[in-house]
Amino acid sequence: MASSSDYDYRVNWPVNPDAPADSFESKAAFVDNGSGPIPKERYYCPQWMEQERTRLWPRVWNWAGRAEDIPTPGDFFTFRISRESFVVIRGEDNEIRAFFNVCPHRGNRLLGDGVGSLADAITCPFHNWRFNFDGSNDHVTDRETFREEALCRNLDLQAVRCETWEGFIFINMDANATPLLDQLGPLPDHAAPYRLSDMRIMRRVQSVWDANWKVGFDGFIEAYHVHCIHPQILPTFNDYHSQIDLYPNGMTRAITKFAEESPRLGNNEINPGLRAMMQEVDLDADSFSGGPADVRSAVQQAKRQRAERLGLDWSVFLDGQLTDDWNYTIFPNIALGLHPEGANLLYFRPHSTDPRKFIFDVIILMHPQQDMSIQPPAYMGLPEGADLTGRERAETIVVDWREGGLGELFDQDSNLFTQVQEGIESLGFRGSILSGQEQRIGHFHAELDRYMNTD
Ligand code: FES
Ligand SMILES: [Fe+2]
Repeated sequence: MASSSDYDYRVNWPVNPDAPADSFESKAAFVDNGSGPIPKERYYCPQWMEQERTRLWPRVWNWAGRAEDIPTPGDFFTFRISRESFVVIRGEDNEIRAFFNVCPHRGNRLLGDGVGSLADAITCPFHNWRFNFDGSNDHVTDRETFREEALCRNLDLQAVRCETWEGFIFINMDANATPLLDQLGPLPDHAAPYRLSDMRIMRRVQSVWDANWKVGFDGFIEAYHVHCIHPQILPTFNDYHSQIDLYPNGMTRAITKFAEESPRLGNNEINPGLRAMMQEVDLDADSFSGGPADVRSAVQQAKRQRAERLGLDWSVFLDGQLTDDWNYTIFPNIALGLHPEGANLLYFRPHSTDPRKFIFDVIILMHPQQDMSIQPPAYMGLPEGADLTGRERAETIVVDWREGGLGELFDQDSNLFTQVQEGIESLGFRGSILSGQEQRIGHFHAELDRYMNTD
């Protein structure tokens, strides 16, 4: 382990200190978000939640779904955030639009939760008013019974901003919001080699956890707790030497090395976890001439050669991208892990009324492949033998976290976060204290405060 004099929180641990400034792995300039503590009320106060409802969610780009889910005109899905629901629908002109899921007549919800396809119109089930896919009003039932002036207002569905990046459809209730691409900062550039728009969702698992959405998000954007809560991954995960980058608009990144043992373990031999990782890429640990410190680069080279054999162009990736966890956050509530084979998106949405619960979506995307003998690396969390053709839409699997089944790592976190939520509310707790390893949390909360402090 490093001694304290080695550590500078302004620099932390660049994965490649020699990376040129225009490289994807270059370390971003330090951003000083102060030294805390983070006040605790935001994690449980109904008033805070209510202010998020009016000051945060209506002003940010919220990820609503994937374009692949609505391939033809009339296809739609609904999306919920806070107490709002939206209809996202592909029009006759192939444009994707989003509307509040609200009928302008008496406020009924137009469509129930889920995905579907409409033949010709959106019809409100309350009194059968009809709307075209572009949101324009098409029919008012018994129009003659309304006074003329009652109908002289806009009878169309209320549209919201809707923009797509790499197949991810985002909505924004703020008509004056900056464009989605501007909000995403360096991510579109950094993510371009992964071709996210060609990936398909292979698995979606949803569960409601007993904690505030920020307890969940905070917990997933630091590796500081890994040695306590997930010690089983330390043999293949260097939890300590993360490179942490803070970007404008509350965006962050952490690069954490896989195929490298945590310095907390201090083995001199190649441990069983690293052996298994080598085996995954057909490397034989017994005949391997290097030591534990050489495994990561050997796995990278083996992955590169295998990709060549499979005809994949991985020349666009840096060596580190082949093994390591490149994890980006999109403000305020998305953590996106990028790997050449696929991506995992963790989504932390508030419960509609209870500040002590959040809706957690685990979304796994992969490049579709026909050859079922090619299975993704274990860390992607797909069940063995999963259909990776991308032909069938992966239905949402709803899981009760108390029964487990989310996967070992997530099950460990779900238990933990319930305890954290309780502890935060204690009269004896005075607000979170952050280390340099947790500076993504400080950056997120600094941006959150900017929203919450603006009327
Ligand atoms: S509320 Fe929709 S038609 Fe009446
Ligand atoms: Fe965790």
